[in-house]
This record gives sequence, structure tokens and C-alpha cells, in this order.
Amino acid sequence: MHNTQATAVAHANIALIKYWGKRDDKLNLPATGSLSLTLDGLTTTTSVSFDSDLNHDCIKLNNQHPGESAADRISAFLNLVYQQVKSTNQQRPYAQVNSHNNFPTAAGLASSASGFAALALATGKALQASLEPGQLSMLARRGSGSAARSIFGGIVEMAHGQRKDGLDSIATQLHQPDYWNLKVLIAVTDAGSKKISSTDGMRQTMQTSPYYPAWIAGAQADIETARDAIAAKDFETLANVTEFSTLKMHASALAAQPGVIYWNAASLAAMHSIRDLRAAGLPVCFTMDAGPQVKAVCTAGATSQVAECLQQVPGVVKVITCGLGRGVRLQPQ
Ligand code: DP6
Repeated sequence: MHNTQATAVAHANIALIKYWGKRDDKLNLPATGSLSLTLDGLTTTTSVSFDSDLNHDCIKLNNQHPGESAADRISAFLNLVYQQVKSTNQQRPYAQVNSHNNFPTAAGLASSASGFAALALATGKALQASLEPGQLSMLARRGSGSAARSIFGGIVEMAHGQRKDGLDSIATQLHQPDYWNLKVLIAVTDAGSKKISSTDGMRQTMQTSPYYPAWIAGAQADIETARDAIAAKDFETLANVTEFSTLKMHASALAAQPGVIYWNAASLAAMHSIRDLRAAGLPVCFTMDAGPQVKAVCTAGATSQVAECLQQVPGVVKVITCGLGRGVRLQPQ
């Protein structure tokens, strides 16, 4: 192998039923299943080029050298894909990796999800392997749990899995992107980097929060409720269980020691505004991840009213509207 190159495109996803906590740190196995929407608007494009003339990995995120820990995480992921694909522990050739997001990185907008999904496919292809979607999902999960879901488009379920080796901890598609015309409006309240990563926030919650066992105990039932509501296109039930899951996740984090607080004043104001809209009869609900942005989920007909309302919330700096997007794919050369 002298120089082999591939480019892949993946979208971020937003979990309606959250992943928060791990059953195995090393294999990055989730302690709960999760259910998500893949978003068409938030896109990562990643090129990987293995080159036997390089003497170290050259990694750039949005045209800049990332910090050491981000670069190490990417190099470790390249090792993992190489070992899996080539069934060897030999030293791999070094690579050039260029990745671009069209949205704020590391601000609770799930850049690791689209990032590792795109990196899994581009790396596999650059190594001339053709990996099945399930294998890609398993590899992406090792990079970041939520990335396992971005392999697929539309509405996606990530399995908790039972096996110790994690072979059944993979995502599957529940519905194609055009199954239900849902929109996700992201109210950006702070575009800076997040203060506590999801990995650290969930570790602290697992280790210290008295509410963590209750969070785990209810997770599977929430997935089933959401899956059934989606099958029936019952927005109201989906809205209730979506808010239930995110508020329980954040409650468990808030009760850690020290408490993990991802919300700012604008996040809370946006959640109240969304509740007011729903009380007035609009099909909309909220969800939040490990950052201060609020994501409103609504049926397409409600989009403009929800956008207008969110734009008026004090502290909301920008509203990004997304539909449901496709799974990871190669970009033609
Ligand atoms: C709150 O996938 O970022 O967004 O596996 O440690 O990389 P790691 O965590 P990550 O966690 C996502 C947590 C969440 C909820 C979700 O997306 O399900």
C-alpha cells in the first residue's frame, strides 16, 4: 500500500431517548439503549489518506490541528479500524485526516457522532475494506457511543446489547428519513466549546449520582414507548416520553457530586417557551444533550411558528432547522 484515500459524509443525530452511562468503558458499551433522529443539516465530511511516506498522523479538524487528546482519540480509532480490517496487530501506515463540520464543534451539537461515523467509513474504504452497516456501527461506537447511530438515516435505535464483547451493541434503522416529516430546530444559546464532555459528565453521574440507578431502570421502557409512538405517528406520546428521557438524564447529572449542569438561562427559557407552545396545541417538544443548546422537535407544519418563538427567546443566538437525513456514505472522488 502506498497511498489510498477515501472521503465520507455523515450527519449528526439527536437522541429522543438518551444514552447516558456505559456498561463497559473499554469497548464503549452503552448502559442503556437509545433512539435518535439523524439530521440532514449538520454534516461532517472526512477524508482519510494512508501514506507510507508519512512518519506521523497529520490530523486537521476544520483546517486546524486539534488538541492532543482529540488527535490521540482519532489515531487510536485509526488503529482500531486497521486492526479489525486487517486482522493484525502490526503497525499501520500513518494517515492524513481532514475533517470539516458545517456547524459549531463540541458545543453539544453531536460533532463526535457525525465525526466518528464519517471516520469509520472513510478509514474502512481507504483500507479497501467493504464493511457492512452493522460492522460500521460497531466501529463508530468505539469512537463515540452516539456515532453508532449516525451510520443510519431517518429514525434509528441503538441496542443496549447483552454480550460482553459488544457484538450486539449496534444501531439499526427503524424508519427511512421520509417516514415522518419531523423537523428539529436547534436553538443555539452558546456556540463555544462545551465545558464538561459527555464522556466525563456520564462518568461523574455513574460514579456519584444517587439518581443514576433510577435512570437506568426506566430507560428500556422509554425506548419501547417511543418506538410504539413512532410506529403509530402519535406525536403527543412521543413528545411526553422525549421530554421525560431528557429531563431524567439531566436530573441524574444534576444530582452528581459535583453536579453537572449543562443548562444556561436561555436553555431554560427555551424549554419553557416550547412547553407553552405545546400547551397552546402545537406539536412540539424539547430535548437537550451535554451542552446548553435546546433542540425542539416538531411536525413540519409547526416549523415556522416554533422558529419564530425560539428566535425571540432572550439569549438564543441562532436557530438551525434540520429535517431527517440520510446515513453515512462515501463521497464520489
Ligand atoms: C447526551 O456519544 O458523546 O448526547 O460515547 O463517551 O463519546 P461517548 O459519548 P457521546 O454521548 C452522547 C450523550 C448524549 C445523549 C445521546 O446522544 O444519546
